[in-house]
Amino acid sequence: MEAEPVANFAAMLLWRAKSYLRYLLSARNRHGTHSPFVYRLLDAVIYDSSVKDAYSIPENLRKMLTQDGRSITITDLGAGSNINTDRVRTVASIARNSAKQPRYGRLLHRLVHEFRPMEMIELGTSLGVSALYQALGNPDGRMVTFEGCPQTAAIARENFTKIGATNIRLIEGNFDETLQNHLNTIDRLDWVFIDGNHRSEPTLRYFEQCLEKAHPESVLIFDDIHWSPDMAQAWQTIKAHPKVTVTLDLFQVGIVFLREGQAKQDFVIRY
Ligand SMILES: C[S@@+](CC[C@H](N)C(=O)[O-])C[C@H]1O[C@@H](n2cnc3c(N)ncnc32)[C@H](O)[C@@H]1O
Repeated sequence: MEAEPVANFAAMLLWRAKSYLRYLLSARNRHGTHSPFVYRLLDAVIYDSSVKDAYSIPENLRKMLTQDGRSITITDLGAGSNINTDRVRTVASIARNSAKQPRYGRLLHRLVHEFRPMEMIELGTSLGVSALYQALGNPDGRMVTFEGCPQTAAIARENFTKIGATNIRLIEGNFDETLQNHLNTIDRLDWVFIDGNHRSEPTLRYFEQCLEKAHPESVLIFDDIHWSPDMAQAWQTIKAHPKVTVTLDLFQVGIVFLREGQAKQDFVIRY
């Protein structure tokens, strides 16, 4: 009974290891890129290792959450939940396992600070850590973050209120309904971070929905593009989309640009 899931798990680990090896062998740093746009972005933003004052806010929150022993019931609407199982987990374990690691949170913050998107969305709030990194990158912009698990969303809201993050709004419910409802209320979308429901079909559907309100200066970021063969396939489809010009594969995340007048090019970037 147990053998098959264990075998599947081992096969997935092996697949991920091979995928990471392939990435390491093909990844380049700024000196391997001939696009002035990408070179500057790597130099000034992606590889900027200086410490920003704003980092301390989500990082203190993360610290506090990893010591939070409260238990909540998870409603899982995303990948890995073929059955809608209700599971009890501590806030501390969610903070340790679900929130993006500091180096990726910091990266999101720097990218927002660079591009100054006004209308931002994030699919997958969890406890609100990555939403904070992004929202603090442009306090004049508006971050709308989506979460389907009511008890997780309640803690995230509590965090935003405590911190006074007034440019973040949380929309609760399944992305399958809430995303389109929100998109219907806005004219343009400058920034998208998709970090939930890591499966190809919904990821591509959300991507297409977002494209309807995106424009040539929009930036779209996809998390876990090499998490599974299915997600790797979604990433291939995204890269091949006619509206997509430049993509950066940082292994954990994929960054997508729709810039016009730019040669279509896909970069694998060491990060
Ligand atoms: C990896 S966590 C997000 C982590 C967060 N971005 C961070 O780094 O702090 C993904 C979240 O997406 C939510 N989610 C997954 N599928 C969903 C769906 N179809 N609708 C709404 N929420 C969903 C999960 O409940 C989970 O909290």
